[in-house]
Amino acid sequence: MDFEAFSALVRHRRTRLTMDPARDVERATIERLCTEATWAPCHRMTWPWRFAAFTGESRRGLGDVAADAMAAHGDAAPKVAKTRTKFLRAPVVVVVGSEPGSSDLETAENRDAVAAGVQNFLLGATALGLATFWSSCPKGANDPVARHCGFMDGTHVAAMLYVGWPAGEPPVGERPPVDVRWFD
Ligand SMILES: Cc1cc2nc3c(=O)[nH]c(=O)nc-3n(C[C@H](O)[C@H](O)[C@H](O)COP(=O)(O)O)c2cc1C
Repeated sequence: MDFEAFSALVRHRRTRLTMDPARDVERATIERLCTEATWAPCHRMTWPWRFAAFTGESRRGLGDVAADAMAAHGDAAPKVAKTRTKFLRAPVVVVVGSEPGSSDLETAENRDAVAAGVQNFLLGATALGLATFWSSCPKGANDPVARHCGFMDGTHVAAMLYVGWPAGEPPVGERPPVDVRWFD
């Protein structure tokens, strides 16, 4: 374990969509990254993460499901039209769901665990040289997207991850200085 290497990895990960949509990412790579996601901390061992990966024409189907939900939700036509094809910008889109728990607290903790898992995925992808983009599920589209993925009712779509090999320049990252309040 090398802390400086870890620190460099954390800083190197960027939310970026500049990727080559025509260059595939191997299924084994995606499955490995999903496996790393499952090593996130998880209270009560509920293992709440669910994964669905879309490649090829299925990316268009995913876009249609999201776009139809947005249209039903009253979104403007140009926004809806853009959503139909937006998942074609990456060779693979991984939808990550968080299953509901048996109480509000467990559901909230499941979501936290899944978000931690997503970060594992992103850092692993960065270490492999992949570009990633964490997108939220469009407003009003959570349930249709979750259903389309085969997730159980009540699953929160935590992330729609665009994954691909980078093209062009990476965006510059920045963070405000950290503020830690110490109490002795
Ligand atoms: C829960 C979550 C949802 C996000 N959803 C979106 C999104 O829908 N669209 C988007 O452009 N970025 C989204 N992002 C990415 C953030 O905008 C991004 O992390 C932030 O701009 C900082 O950039 P960096 O990741 O390169 O440091 C999301 C991030 C998180 C954690």
